[in-house]
Amino acid sequence: MMILTGTKQGHPSLFPVSVSANASSMPMLPTSSRLKYVSLGVLVLQTTSLVLTMRYSRTLHSEDPRYLASSAVVCAEVLKIVACLLLVFRDQSFSVRALNGVLKEEIINKPLLTLKLAVPSGIYTLQNNLLYVALSNLDAATYQVTYQLKILTTALFSVSMLGKRLGIYQWLSLVILMAGIALVQQWPTEVTSIAPQKDLTASSQLMGLLAVLVACFSSGFAGVYFEKILKESKQSVWVRNIQLGLFGLIFGLVGVFVYDGERVRENGLFQGYNNVTWAVVALQALGGLVIAAVIKFADNILKGFATSISIILSTLISYFFLEDFDPTSVFFLGAMLVIAATFLYGYESTPKPGQPQ
Ligand code: C5P
Repeated sequence: MMILTGTKQGHPSLFPVSVSANASSMPMLPTSSRLKYVSLGVLVLQTTSLVLTMRYSRTLHSEDPRYLASSAVVCAEVLKIVACLLLVFRDQSFSVRALNGVLKEEIINKPLLTLKLAVPSGIYTLQNNLLYVALSNLDAATYQVTYQLKILTTALFSVSMLGKRLGIYQWLSLVILMAGIALVQQWPTEVTSIAPQKDLTASSQLMGLLAVLVACFSSGFAGVYFEKILKESKQSVWVRNIQLGLFGLIFGLVGVFVYDGERVRENGLFQGYNNVTWAVVALQALGGLVIAAVIKFADNILKGFATSISIILSTLISYFFLEDFDPTSVFFLGAMLVIAATFLYGYESTPKPGQPQ
């Protein structure tokens, strides 16, 4: 797996940083860099497992009604909040009193900051709905390629909102990444061409495209906004995630009642759930935790690269283990471009002595 590290200025780099402050002959990584490696690695694994589990869940045939996506979103949100509460509890040396103190101080006594988190939370809810519209109107290949544009919007928001500076090689790496992803994404077209195609009218294609384009902007904005809040505050990422999750839960419950209220009254919130559904819910909750950690310890742009690598990984697993994918030379070219882009992005941000970033 590719190793992503950080520079001392907090900018991402792909090459190990020798820590001169330690004056050690063995290159040692600071804890924040180790956390960056670990969080990015786990994100690659989580995204890959989620894609494969979802694909597996789609191939399962069942007599029962299908589970409600809105209910799965709420369950994942609850699981995420519980996991974050346990992490804060651990950080407070398992003292219930200290846990109460932190929650009161950070959530109840800081209503403005708590309200600030309603912004990314509301945008994420909108985004999840937009992606549903996009997926209902576009084929999987077009959807995946177009949604990778979020890496570019994320870079634009990082530059404008966080004052991040990207060098010419980094911009170039973003362009190469987009080209690589576009080539890699050729494969679902081959897969879907075997399956019966849904007749997609031009207007529904346009609607799907608009939805995914708006989702690219919302993903970039919400991610960078959350990064700004996290990097401006000393409080643990888990406390902020509880705040984000609480709003997510409220918006999610509204979604359940608006979209699926009737069905919930008829067959309950957990209709159609099976072990695979719970696995998807758990992986989605884990995703929320890992994404928060990646945003804190790495950044949103590297998050985009990590998910691109996971697209390649899940495709390779499809080929070697599931044997439902026959890669072409175009796929390999695309994969090489993505890996090259990842290295190029890190190369430029390696600090040069005395050069401001
Ligand atoms: O596509 P994108 O990377 O923007 O998706 C981010 C997803 O991660 C959203 O579905 C959002 O709900 C979720 N998320 C989360 N917790 C965070 C940040 C994002 O659950 N702290």
